Amino acid sequence: MLKPGSTIGILGGGQLGRMLALAAARLGLHCHIYSPEKDSGAFEVVRASTCAPYDDETALARFAASVDVITYEFENIPAKTAAFLAKRKPVFPDPRVLELTQDRLVEKNFIDGLKIAVAPYAPVHSASQLAAGIEKVGLPAVLKTTTMGYDGKGQTKIKKGDDANAAWRSLKNKPCVLEGFVNFEREVSVIAARSADGHVECFEVTENEHRDHILKISTVPAKVSPQLATEAKRVATRIAKALDYVGVLGVEMFVVKDKGKQAVLVNEIAPRVHNSGHWTIDGASVSQFEQHIRAVAGWPLAKPLRFGRKVEMTNLIGAEIHDVDHWLTVPGVSVHLYGKTEARAGRKMGHVTRVYPK
Ligand SMILES: Nc1ncnc2c1ncn2[C@@H]1O[C@H](COP(=O)(O)OP(=O)(O)O)[C@@H](O)[C@H]1O
Ligand SMILES: [Mg+2]
Repeated sequence: MLKPGSTIGILGGGQLGRMLALAAARLGLHCHIYSPEKDSGAFEVVRASTCAPYDDETALARFAASVDVITYEFENIPAKTAAFLAKRKPVFPDPRVLELTQDRLVEKNFIDGLKIAVAPYAPVHSASQLAAGIEKVGLPAVLKTTTMGYDGKGQTKIKKGDDANAAWRSLKNKPCVLEGFVNFEREVSVIAARSADGHVECFEVTENEHRDHILKISTVPAKVSPQLATEAKRVATRIAKALDYVGVLGVEMFVVKDKGKQAVLVNEIAPRVHNSGHWTIDGASVSQFEQHIRAVAGWPLAKPLRFGRKVEMTNLIGAEIHDVDHWLTVPGVSVHLYGKTEARAGRKMGHVTRVYPK
């Protein structure tokens, strides 16, 4: 168990790192942010930071020497970087988890191997595999690059009558996974935390609405049956255990109607704090960020309790940052801005959380 005053090293300097560092500060822990990007928003809120590429071994060694434990807020950290650091300091979650979740196909095979339901899928490394994949999963389908996709980037829908090879070409013929299109009733996620001693705490199931493939609104409670909520948390818990995970992970799921009953299919795993868990900062007795810090520091997890009858988190994307004047005056709303200067289209600039009183 890390003592207050210890330092947690965080790889990645975006808003997730920033919110992790703020949560750590409340617990009397310091953070050292490592990020290759000069304008990393997380640099502003920590005492120590390193701005260097992920392959700069001198900077990495110095970083490792200055911290007690290492975690990350960004899952596309090169495997080599994680391995280099893991030789010097404990890294949570284990770098193996990064490797598994960096590749959609490896990740799907893993979930499927746990006998947890996923959408039908097939690997696409050649034109013949693409044709066989369409045969298997049917149309419409979604073609996704196996690596580096986020916020809907690196994926394209293929409908009946479309030229599938052209769709693959639009993804530069990169290795892909083809998924059957899921006619979901709603999208939900479970944010789970697992401590070093194997205890798991899940936040309530959260309902997520995307716009242009980017998360727009998360709401709790989700409109799902108590049975489905229990099942969704059970699935996330099984995944966390199977990965021997330490920290917070987000599991994105589709809710489908199966013979009149709601059932879940796992869409993807995020090996980090997750945008759909931002409501927990203002809407619960402990935030996902604090849970993650507690887990990687070897502290016991808190039992999260939700405030209010309903909590709603809305992302401020691109120019929506200018709506902040309005949000600042709405009763029950907490405003979070990430300190990014340029409001590029599709960029997550901040979020607001509204707690509806009981
Ligand atoms: N197989 C699918 N069927 C239906 N919708 C999908 C499917 N895959 C992805 N989507 C939609 O696209 C969004 C982004 O896809 P996802 O696989 O989560 O990639 P990302 O890494 O960009 O978040 C999902 O949240 C969902 O709304
Ligand atoms: Mg996703």
